[in-house]
Amino acid sequence: MQSITSRQAAALLFAIFAPCTSAGNSTDSHLASRYLPGDPGWPTHAEWNQLNETVGGRLIQGRPLARDCFGSSTLNDPVNVMSPYWLNDSCNPFLGPNGTCTLGNMASYAIDVADAGSVMAGIQFAQQKNLRLTIKNTGHDYLGRSAGEGSLALWTHNLKNISVLNYTSPHYTGPALKVGAGIEVAEAYAAAQQHGLRVVGGGCPTVGVAGGWLPGGGHGPLTAAYGLGADEALEYEVVTAAGQHLVVSPTSNYSDLYWALSGGGPGNYAVVLSITIQAHPDGPVAGLSLSFVNTDATTYWRAIAAWIQRLLEIDVHFPKLNSAATFTSAGFSLDFVTLPDVSSEAELTTAIGPFLHDLQQLNITVSTLETQLSPNYYAHYQYFTTSSTINTTNETVGNRLIPRSVARHHLPALIDTLQGISNNNSAAVFVIENNNVTHQNVGNQPGANAVLPAWRDSLFSLNFGVEIAPDASWEVIWAHQTEVNDWLDALRAVTPGGGSYQNEATFNDAEWKQDYFGVNYDRLAAIKAKYDPEYVFFANAAVGSDVRWRLAKDGSGRLYRR
Ligand SMILES: Cc1cc2nc3c(=O)[nH]c(=O)nc-3n(C[C@H](O)[C@H](O)[C@H](O)COP(=O)(O)OP(=O)(O)OC[C@H]3O[C@@H](n4cnc5c(N)ncnc54)[C@H](O)[C@@H]3O)c2cc1C
Ligand SMILES: *[C@@H]1O[C@H](CO)[C@@H](O)[C@H](O)[C@H]1NC(C)=O
Ligand SMILES: *[C@@H]1O[C@H](CO)[C@@H](O)[C@H](O)[C@H]1NC(C)=O
Ligand SMILES: *[C@@H]1O[C@H](CO)[C@@H](O)[C@H](O)[C@H]1NC(C)=O
Ligand SMILES: *[C@@H]1O[C@H](CO)[C@@H](O)[C@H](O)[C@H]1NC(C)=O
Ligand SMILES: *[C@@H]1O[C@H](CO)[C@@H](O)[C@H](O)[C@H]1NC(C)=O
Ligand SMILES: *[C@@H]1O[C@H](CO)[C@@H](O)[C@H](O)[C@H]1NC(C)=O
Ligand SMILES: *[C@@H]1O[C@H](CO)[C@@H](O)[C@H](O)[C@H]1NC(C)=O
Ligand SMILES: *[C@@H]1O[C@H](CO)[C@@H](O)[C@H](O)[C@H]1NC(C)=O
Ligand SMILES: *[C@@H]1O[C@H](CO)[C@@H](O)[C@H](O)[C@H]1NC(C)=O
Ligand SMILES: *[C@@H]1O[C@H](CO)[C@@H](O)[C@H](O)[C@H]1NC(C)=O
Ligand SMILES: *[C@@H]1O[C@H](CO)[C@@H](O)[C@H](O)[C@H]1NC(C)=O
Ligand SMILES: *[C@@H]1O[C@H](CO)[C@@H](O)[C@H](O)[C@H]1NC(C)=O
Repeated sequence: MQSITSRQAAALLFAIFAPCTSAGNSTDSHLASRYLPGDPGWPTHAEWNQLNETVGGRLIQGRPLARDCFGSSTLNDPVNVMSPYWLNDSCNPFLGPNGTCTLGNMASYAIDVADAGSVMAGIQFAQQKNLRLTIKNTGHDYLGRSAGEGSLALWTHNLKNISVLNYTSPHYTGPALKVGAGIEVAEAYAAAQQHGLRVVGGGCPTVGVAGGWLPGGGHGPLTAAYGLGADEALEYEVVTAAGQHLVVSPTSNYSDLYWALSGGGPGNYAVVLSITIQAHPDGPVAGLSLSFVNTDATTYWRAIAAWIQRLLEIDVHFPKLNSAATFTSAGFSLDFVTLPDVSSEAELTTAIGPFLHDLQQLNITVSTLETQLSPNYYAHYQYFTTSSTINTTNETVGNRLIPRSVARHHLPALIDTLQGISNNNSAAVFVIENNNVTHQNVGNQPGANAVLPAWRDSLFSLNFGVEIAPDASWEVIWAHQTEVNDWLDALRAVTPGGGSYQNEATFNDAEWKQDYFGVNYDRLAAIKAKYDPEYVFFANAAVGSDVRWRLAKDGSGRLYRR
């Protein structure tokens, strides 16, 4: 059968929501929590079937996926996510016969979203039946924002529309890419490339552009050249909690919603159907990678300090240069340097030259060094994308945005802290992602969107974490998490004003409001209350997530009304 049209769904919504606000069951304040399977109030088979009919047969029952060595099958699954912490061993074959295979934190049902109508039907059903609602795209989220026990998920993976257009607005005139909410980074790159264009996307090819990546901020190899993902957003096509199907832009009547969606965090203000982003003329891109090993701790950590110091110069003299480096106690790898629109590798060698000189001075032997000039961005991206940039979901991660002032004036304290972490746990992995995202370099004004202002003052985004073994117990994962939180505390102490990138952050940062949203918090909270007064969209550590609901701490997955 056909799915209902937006108009029909809107009419239905109005009919159901209007009485609800006065006397209906769904908003009864005496309901202490969202229903879970097994609760007397949980929808009957007949009711689920009815929802299924409403959405044209696109309702899917969630099934636990045996964790297949952290494979990519979760990408194509309606409810399962990647984070080992949120999977919580509820179906871990590595645990042997003692293991269980239940849904745990994963959604009970999912609607395979095809259009605004199916989103409206899902919101309406969840509200009417007192269910938790989640939104799941690829399941990359580290904060558990795309999972939720007993929830009805809106699964956006199959919104694969993508088109190139010429966009005209008071703010931007030029080529643009309209990406459906299910489009992944590599799909956007490929589509742009076919039209002689390039777009800003993530480093990981399977991250969802319009899902969590852009609304959470969004960095990647072209961020220094053009901006963060959120800086590139021209307009959003959304469905609000009230069932309105809107197009929001800086010049629409919903400029506040545009502002919040652009960096204010995913899954919280509206359901996104598509985003139109800027696209840019393609051309040659120079790339570089190099690595060296730690043979002597003193010179090794001096080399890391030298890299950070050189980044201060690179930001000024090569503002379009983007770099990502990974290091552990064992070695340093500058994985992915991107410098667009140069005619040869020479310019890149010039940019990195002073650092190579530093290494020489320190008697450090470079183990690998490679430069490559690619004819276009996508070719460059594919060349430098390695398995380590793709398949590292088996980790606990934390993040700190490191201010330039710290690199300039307090570098020894920062290095001491990094070295201290590394000495305490030799398995600690760090990633330095450098890009100049000052308003000047990006070409927008302060306050243009809800990106955490600390990004603008940061020299680099620092990830830190530890890998999680396939058979790690909940206690072990929790211990890793606690350790990473301790590292965050240590780093926060030496990086005043720094903040954290919410898409790569620890899920239980006690200072999440300040760290993820900073001065934007109150304005975002007001927009949340305006567009989602019932707090239908609930996501961990999202703006307003502590207003109406409280997630049980006992692991029951129950979402209690405050
Ligand atoms: C291996 C790996 C590599 C990464 N690399 C990068 C990187 O290079 N750069 C970077 O910036 N980040 C990176 N990230 C972080 C990434 O940006 C976030 O995990 C992001 O939330 C993923 O979004 P998603 O839509 O793919 O995932 P999901 O987990 O499906 O969704 C993430 C969030 O978006 C919400 N959401 C999804 N779809 C919609 C929708 N249509 N409407 C409203 N809300 C929606 C969900 O509810 C959830 O809150 C990486 C993460 C991992 C695990
Ligand atoms: C509404 O509440 C009444 C009384 O508690 C109950 O019988 C009925 O099933 C509820 N309806 C819905 C749709 O939940
Ligand atoms: C929804 O309907 C479709 C088509 O009839 C069916 O294949 C699917 O199994 C149903 N989903 C559920 C959860 O029953
Ligand atoms: C990443 O994991 C997926 C799923 O296991 C696999 O198909 C793919 O080949 C892996 N990619 C790399 C580069 O290791
Ligand atoms: C299963 O649990 C029992 C009892 O706790 C324990 O002795 C045994 O080693 C476990 N087996 C596996 C494979 O973990
Ligand atoms: C996707 O494309 C189809 C056909 O071009 C169009 O009807 C539909 O509205 C598009 N959906 C979105 C979300 O852009
Ligand atoms: C956009 O405009 C350019 C220049 O006028 C034109 O060549 C191109 O075909 C247009 N692209 C689209 C998708 O309309
Ligand atoms: C914006 O709102 C005004 C006043 O309500 C209305 O007249 C106008 O048509 C709206 N514009 C758009 C683009 O929706
Ligand atoms: C590098 O080696 C030279 C020659 O062996 C030595 O003089 C110098 O002190 C070394 N530098 C460092 C930083 O170890
Ligand atoms: C390293 O471990 C010690 C002892 O547990 C602790 O006091 C110290 O704070 C840790 N250092 C860092 C940087 O985590
Ligand atoms: C960032 O790039 C701009 C050029 O767009 C440059 O003028 C500026 O100095 C750089 N900012 C910093 C803090 O390095
Ligand atoms: C995590 O995954 C990566 C990539 O698949 C793998 O190389 C590594 O060994 C895994 N780590 C652990 C601790 O299992
Ligand atoms: C994971 O499971 C344990 C019980 O084994 C529970 O205490 C904990 O709260 C659960 N965590 C999550 C995030 O579900």
